[in-house]
Amino acid sequence: THQWRGLIEEYRDRLPVTDSTPVVTLLEGGTPLVPAQVLSERTGCEVYLKVEGANPTGSFKDRGMTMAISKAKEEGAQAVICASTGNTSASAAAYAVRAGMVSAVLVPQGKIALGKMGQALVHGARILQVDGNFDDCLTLARELSEKYPVALVNSVNPVRIEGQKTAAFEIVDMLGDAPDIHVLPVGNAGNITAYWKGYREYARSAPAAVPDRDGSPRLLPRLATRTPRMWGFQAAGSAPIVDGAPVLKPQTIATAIRIGNPASWDFALAARDESGGLIDKVTDRQILAAYRLLAAQEGVFVEPASAASVAGLLAKAEAGLVDPGQRIVCTVTGNGLKDPDWAVAGAPQPQVVPIDPEAAARHLGLLD
Ligand code: F0G
Repeated sequence: THQWRGLIEEYRDRLPVTDSTPVVTLLEGGTPLVPAQVLSERTGCEVYLKVEGANPTGSFKDRGMTMAISKAKEEGAQAVICASTGNTSASAAAYAVRAGMVSAVLVPQGKIALGKMGQALVHGARILQVDGNFDDCLTLARELSEKYPVALVNSVNPVRIEGQKTAAFEIVDMLGDAPDIHVLPVGNAGNITAYWKGYREYARSAPAAVPDRDGSPRLLPRLATRTPRMWGFQAAGSAPIVDGAPVLKPQTIATAIRIGNPASWDFALAARDESGGLIDKVTDRQILAAYRLLAAQEGVFVEPASAASVAGLLAKAEAGLVDPGQRIVCTVTGNGLKDPDWAVAGAPQPQVVPIDPEAAARHLGLLD
C-alpha cells in the first residue's frame, strides 16, 4: 500500500528544499482530478475538475503553506503572519500548529466566511479583523513583517508559489500531458502564477524519446509535450486585471476573491500572454449558477469563489469560444463547507415529519 506523502516528499526534486529543511506537512496535495460529465456534455470537451477542497484544510492554500511554514521553520521563525480572505488564514493557522509556531492573521472585518473564521479560531490563530478590505490587510501584514519578527506567508512569499505549482505537476502526471486549457478563479493572482510556473517547468520542448539500455526508445516520464492556455476569471465587482485599474471597493458574494489590487497582477498578465490565454470576469449570478450546477449535477460542493472557473468556462462555451474536443481542467479551489450560507439561502426548509414510515413516504412522494 502506498500513502501519499505530501507534496514536498512527492516532488522534492522540483522544490527549493534540502535535507535540512524541516518538512511541516498535513499530507496535502494528491487531490482528485474528477471527470465532469455535465460540463463535458455542455462544452463538447473533455472537462476535469481539480478538486482542491480535498486538501487538509479544505483549499489549495495548503500547497503553498506546507512550503512557506517549512521554510519559515528552517529559518528559525517563531511566528508567522498573513492577510487573508479566509482560506490562507485557515491554512496558516493549521500549519503553524504543526510547526509549533504562533500564527497571526489579518482579515477584512465581516467579510470572511464563517467556516474559515472557525478554522482560524480553533487552530488558535491570533485574529485581527481589520476595518478595511483584503488589500488593506495585505499592506498591514507586509509592514508588520518588515518591522517585527514575524514571517509573511502570503503568496508574495515566493515559496508559496513553489508549493502551489505542484498542482500542475499532478495534472500532467494524471493525464499524461498538459490539458489544452486550464481554467481557474483569480483573486490575488498567486495561483494562476503558480500553475503557469508548474506547467512551464514540467514541459519539455519536444517529445524526446531517450534510448533505453537495450536500445528501445523510452519516453521521459512525468513530462508534458506542451503547456496549456491559461484562462483566469475574476468576479465582475472585483475585476481589476480585466478592467485595467485597481478597484478601491471590490464587491462580490465570492468573498475569497474579493480583491481590488492583486499582488501578482503582472505575473497573471504574463501567464495570460505567454500561454495565449485570457483573463475575463463573471457576474455573481453566473458564479452562483455554476456553484449550483457543480453541486446539483456533478456532485462536487465548492465554495462560491471556486465556481468562478466553471462559470467562466460555461460563459465562453455559450459564446461559441470553446472549440469542441479539447481537454480542459478547471481548478475548484475550496470546499463548499467553508461557506454553506449560499447552499442554504433560498433553498426550501426540509419538512418536519412524525416518526412514521407512511407519513415520511408521503412527503418523499413514494406514495401516489
Ligand atoms: N479561490 C479561493 C477559494 C481562494 O481562497 C482564493 C484566494 C482564490 C480562489 C484566488 O486565488 O488569490 O491565488 O488568485 N484566497 C486568498 C486567501 C486571497 O486569503 O485565502 P489567488
